[in-house]
Amino acid sequence: MTNDDVGGPAQPLLAVKGLVKHFPLKKDVLGRGGGVVRAVDGISFDVRKGETLGVVGESGCGKSTTARLLMHLIEPNKGEIVFDGRTVGGSALPLKEFRRQTQMVFQDSYASLNPRLTMEDSIAFAPQVHGVPRKEAVARARDLLARVGLEPRRFAERYPHELSGGQRQRVNIARALALQPRLVILDEAVSALDKSVEAQVLNLLLDLKQEFGLTYVFISHDLNVVRYMSDRVMVMYLGEVAEIGRSETLFKHPAHPYTRALLSSIPTMDPDRRTEQPPLAGDPPNPINPPSGCRFHTRCAHAQAVCAQRAPRSAWWTRGRPSPAGCTCPAAGTRKRRRR
Ligand SMILES: Nc1ncnc2c1ncn2[C@@H]1O[C@H](COP(=O)(O)OP(=O)(O)OP(=O)(O)O)[C@@H](O)[C@H]1O
Ligand code: SF4
Ligand SMILES: [Mg+2]
Repeated sequence: MTNDDVGGPAQPLLAVKGLVKHFPLKKDVLGRGGGVVRAVDGISFDVRKGETLGVVGESGCGKSTTARLLMHLIEPNKGEIVFDGRTVGGSALPLKEFRRQTQMVFQDSYASLNPRLTMEDSIAFAPQVHGVPRKEAVARARDLLARVGLEPRRFAERYPHELSGGQRQRVNIARALALQPRLVILDEAVSALDKSVEAQVLNLLLDLKQEFGLTYVFISHDLNVVRYMSDRVMVMYLGEVAEIGRSETLFKHPAHPYTRALLSSIPTMDPDRRTEQPPLAGDPPNPINPPSGCRFHTRCAHAQAVCAQRAPRSAWWTRGRPSPAGCTCPAAGTRKRRRR
C-alpha cells in the first residue's frame, strides 16, 4: 500500500469548514415555486486518521449531500474541504489524486456496477484508468475478491445479475479498495441487506479497516449499526450539525435535545437504556423554508420563545474547534462541554 500520509497522525484526514449546498428549484409555468433547498447549510467537522465517523439524522437532513460534497461529486456553494492538510482541487492535491485516495460505497449495490462487466473487470477498471497495467489490475482484483470473501474461481467471471445483494455489495467494497484509498465514505452501504448478511458485511468492513489502515465516514439511519461501527458520531438536523461527539459518550449521554429525541426512537428491551424523552413527532420541517432561530424549535420539548428568534450557539468555536452540541439552552439541561 502506498504511504500518502502528509501531516502525520495528529492532522485530520479531512477538515470540513463552513460547507454549504443549496439546490435551486425551478419555477413552474405560472412562475410559482423557485427558491432553494438548503440541503447542507454551513457544516464544519473533522475526520481523524484511522477513525470511523458515523453520520446520523432523519431522512432528508443532508447526509448524502454531505457525502457527495466530500467526494467532490457536486460543487459546494461555500466552504472548504481540506484533505490531510491540502485543499482538494488545488495544485497540492489535484482532483484525480484525491479521487484515488477517497472512495465511496452506495446503498444500491446494483446501480454502482456496470451490468456488462464481470466482477473481475469491474474491480480492475479504476486501477487501469489510473495507469496500472491490465495484468496487474486483474491480479489485484482477484486478490480483493478473496479478501472480501468471494472465491475468485467462482466469482471473478460472473456478472452483477448472477450475484446476491450481499455478494454484490462485497464486490462494491472490493472495487472501492482497488485504488488503495485512505478514506472510504459508506452511504447506507449495508441498509439494503438482510440482517444476517448485514452483520457479515459490517464485520468485513471492520476487518478491512484494520488491515488497510482505512478511515471511514459511515452514514446510516440505523442507530444501532452506527453505534457498533463508529468512534465518533455526527448528528445532523435540517442541513446543520446538531451534535458531534465520541460514540460511547453521545449514545450514553446525548447532549442536544434532538439527539436525545432521536435516540429515544431506538427500540430496546434493556430497561437501563429506556429514556424519559418523548420520541420525535411528525416529519422534519421543509428545508426550502427552515424554521427561524434554532431549526429544531418546532419539535423541541424544551423550546422557549427565544429559540425561534436566535440560532443556538452552534457556530461557537472553542480553541479553534466547533462546540460539541448546537444547543446550549439551559432549559434543555444541556451540558456545556464534554470531550469530542
Ligand atoms: N439534486 C437535488 N435537487 C434538489 N434537492 C435535492 C437534490 N439532492 C438532494 N436534495 C434535497 O436535499 C435534502 C437533503 O437530501 P439528502 O439526500 O442529502 O438527505 P439524506 O439525509 O441523505 O436523506 P436519506 O436518509 O433519505 O437518504 C432533501 O430535502 C432532498 O430532497
Ligand atoms: S435551542 Fe431551544 S429549541 Fe433548539 S434544541 Fe435548544 S432548547 Fe430546543
Ligand atoms: Mg441519503
